[in-house]
Amino acid sequence: MARYSFIVFCVSFILACTRLSKCDTSHDNPKLHIVYMGSLPKTQYSLTSNHLSMLQQVFNDNDATNSLIHSYNRSFNGFAAMLTNQQKEKLSQMEGVVSVFPNRIIQLQTTRSWDFLGLPKSVKRSPSIESDVVVGVIDSGIWPESDSFNDQGFGPIPKNWKGVCAGGTNFTCNKKIIGARYYTDKSARDLDGHGTHTASTTAGNYIDNASLDGLAQGTARGGVPLARIAAYKACNEVGCGSAAILSAFDDAIADGVNIISVSLGGPTEQPFDQDPIAIGSFHAMARGILTVNGAGNGGPRPSTISCVAPWILTVGASTIDRRFIDKVLLGNGKTLTGSSINSFTLNGTQILIAKKNYGSKSECSEQRSSVCSCLDSSVVDGKIILCDTFDGIDVIDYDQGHPIGIIIQYHGKGSLDFVTPLPSLALSESEFKLLNSYINSTDNPTAEILKSEIVTDNNAPIVADFSSRGPNKLVPEILKPDISAPGVDILASFSQAVSPSRKKSDKRSAKYSIISGTSMACPHVSGIAAYLKTFHLDWSPAAIKSALMTSAKPMKASKDEIGEYAYGSGQVNPIPAIDPGLIYDISLEDYIQMLCNLGYDNEKVKLITAKNNACSDAPNRSLVKNLNYPALAIDVKPMTPFTIEFSRTVTNVGLENSTYKATVLPNPRIKVVVVPEILSFKSLHEKQSFSVTVSGDKLPTSSVLTSSLVWSDGTHNVRSPIVINVSN
Ligand SMILES: *[C@@H]1O[C@H](CO)[C@@H](O)[C@H](O)[C@H]1NC(C)=O
Ligand SMILES: *[C@@H]1O[C@H](CO)[C@@H](O)[C@H](O)[C@H]1NC(C)=O
Ligand SMILES: *[C@@H]1O[C@H](CO)[C@@H](O)[C@H](O)[C@H]1NC(C)=O
Ligand SMILES: *[C@@H]1O[C@H](CO)[C@@H](O)[C@H](O)[C@H]1NC(C)=O
Ligand SMILES: *[C@@H]1O[C@H](CO)[C@@H](O)[C@H](O)[C@H]1NC(C)=O
Ligand SMILES: *[C@@H]1O[C@H](CO)[C@@H](O)[C@H](O)[C@H]1NC(C)=O
Ligand SMILES: *[C@@H]1O[C@H](CO)[C@@H](O)[C@H](O)[C@H]1NC(C)=O
Repeated sequence: MARYSFIVFCVSFILACTRLSKCDTSHDNPKLHIVYMGSLPKTQYSLTSNHLSMLQQVFNDNDATNSLIHSYNRSFNGFAAMLTNQQKEKLSQMEGVVSVFPNRIIQLQTTRSWDFLGLPKSVKRSPSIESDVVVGVIDSGIWPESDSFNDQGFGPIPKNWKGVCAGGTNFTCNKKIIGARYYTDKSARDLDGHGTHTASTTAGNYIDNASLDGLAQGTARGGVPLARIAAYKACNEVGCGSAAILSAFDDAIADGVNIISVSLGGPTEQPFDQDPIAIGSFHAMARGILTVNGAGNGGPRPSTISCVAPWILTVGASTIDRRFIDKVLLGNGKTLTGSSINSFTLNGTQILIAKKNYGSKSECSEQRSSVCSCLDSSVVDGKIILCDTFDGIDVIDYDQGHPIGIIIQYHGKGSLDFVTPLPSLALSESEFKLLNSYINSTDNPTAEILKSEIVTDNNAPIVADFSSRGPNKLVPEILKPDISAPGVDILASFSQAVSPSRKKSDKRSAKYSIISGTSMACPHVSGIAAYLKTFHLDWSPAAIKSALMTSAKPMKASKDEIGEYAYGSGQVNPIPAIDPGLIYDISLEDYIQMLCNLGYDNEKVKLITAKNNACSDAPNRSLVKNLNYPALAIDVKPMTPFTIEFSRTVTNVGLENSTYKATVLPNPRIKVVVVPEILSFKSLHEKQSFSVTVSGDKLPTSSVLTSSLVWSDGTHNVRSPIVINVSN
């Protein structure tokens, strides 16, 4: 069984996955399934009675009422029900059904970050418009008492708002949090921290002097501090079910949110009609609402990106110029430098380092001991221990031993930052070796783990190791991720129900915590998309997306990878995005043609889109590349000369009279020709089309060739990456 979750870089979720994947699936017991039926029918009738009668047909004589868990009937059509495989098969064949798929548990995946992005506190805002914007956050709920959501100074709830405050037990809304609903637990209250963190990053108030125990001190704020928030709790500490995610979309769209932020992602990409985020965001797009989603935390391996639908804005996570380091002072006076977000101070107290083996019990092998999976109190209590993996930090929640500090060996690249539940840090392999030789050199090794310090990282921004990478296996013509944003060491508001390290043994509670993940990158872009919306109320979701992508700042790729598969168009760049010059717009009709060309049959496309004869021609896969996407990507066969023509149309949103000239970043192994090379506009909203022909000779398999196209009028630079993937 696949599993989705919050996309924070968090090891405990990965542990939970392995447990679930061992689930026995051999018996035909009823399991929760989603029966997706596409758009709402034009004629009003009780959808729920229809859902029940469909169920009744596959339940023969038995009562089907109890198996219906939820009806989707506000923004799209379908239901969630407990079904056996046999019933599932029967339902899949029934008229009106697009797809039937199992409920999956999806993993949930800032002081400095906004200034780093170029959206300073003093930025131009339109308060009256911004305060009418509602951001819908589908997540683990929200902590309503957080300062980020105080409603002081907020006017009446926007007139167009159609949602409710149905937050459940002990939950009240205000003029900042104007909507709340929950699909798990007993209330919309956030018991995990994730939802509070993402909501405050998107639209939290300004808060001066926010920090985690003095670390990362500064003004905390969201991208649109004046906007309102509607919280849809589809996730708890275990993860988020597809059925709940779809309920949240069904409600958020009908409630009238303007932007949807979902920091969730599955482990693998699913076909669009079986992916709750693709389905929900499609119906949102059809109503003019852009959905922003994190890329996932499956990196740095290729093709780990989880949701690749073109109507979603998919965000990778990158670093900012503020980094945390942590030092350990050894008894011999030497200092080793590693990383962690450690706010504990030992005030000069040197603590004895426990020598291995930590477990004296016979079942505790040296190997298990070295990863700290069995700790003997008599050996480790009151001492610092060394653990070979990050899991060592989790150990203290369930093991018997009580070490006073932990030093982890980190085998990955870059640094491993995490809020520690006790004095601890991660050392690279080479620093860890130095530590070991010191321990070998003395009978009583001692060390002091210092409080973390902040340093400036001049390499930023670079894409984080954990951020999921392309290429997009499902639709190679759509380059994913789309864009990159800060997702490393982000300070934002937190739930008071958990400690800032999320470890049970940590007894602190903190108003703010610092976390990393594409979950943190996503709300930066949701906030900027909402900000953009306040300048262009009439723009389609695709227009907002295009403005953000074509104005993104180029980024550096690490040596051994294709940068575009890590950061897409580059780092989000809010101010130029307000005035992009040209946009690549995409209509609902264009997406429908793409689905047709991908081979979705007429009947399915008709159900999904509520349009008759949606697919007028036979599917033609080679037309998918002509979707008016603000990036150009395609797969070509190895050792075969190729000529690929992409067609695109841009809309002038800059100056009335303007002339744009095309420039192509040269790549010696491909030829790129743009026709025409000059586009002259005489009016606003005027559209002009052009073609980009990319040709190349026999290229070896697994090579990836990149270039970019920039349209410039001297003021606006409208940039699109070009990525040719030579693949079988
Ligand atoms: C819509 O679905 C909800 C939740 O399942 C249900 O309570 C309600 O009666 C349904 N409404 C209609 C009109 O079918
Ligand atoms: C409601 O929740 C808050 C925060 O956890 C808590 O302080 C308060 O006591 C709760 N109130 C009731 C009536 O349970
Ligand atoms: C800022 O926060 C820190 C740590 O929470 C506190 O010690 C300090 O007094 C605060 N400063 C101001 C000006 O409020
Ligand atoms: C270090 O000093 C601070 C401030 O005096 C105190 O809060 C903390 O408990 C001390 N830590 C230890 C390990 O003694
Ligand atoms: C420390 O000593 C152990 C054996 O006592 C040895 O295996 C290890 O390689 C030594 N480590 C270093 C870094 O010298
Ligand atoms: C598919 O589209 C391509 C590009 O426009 C065209 O050359 C080709 O003839 C079409 N194929 C079919 C089967 O219509
Ligand atoms: C744009 O050009 C047209 C005709 O060339 C002219 O009438 C119009 O005034 C120009 N608009 C601006 C804003 O310069």
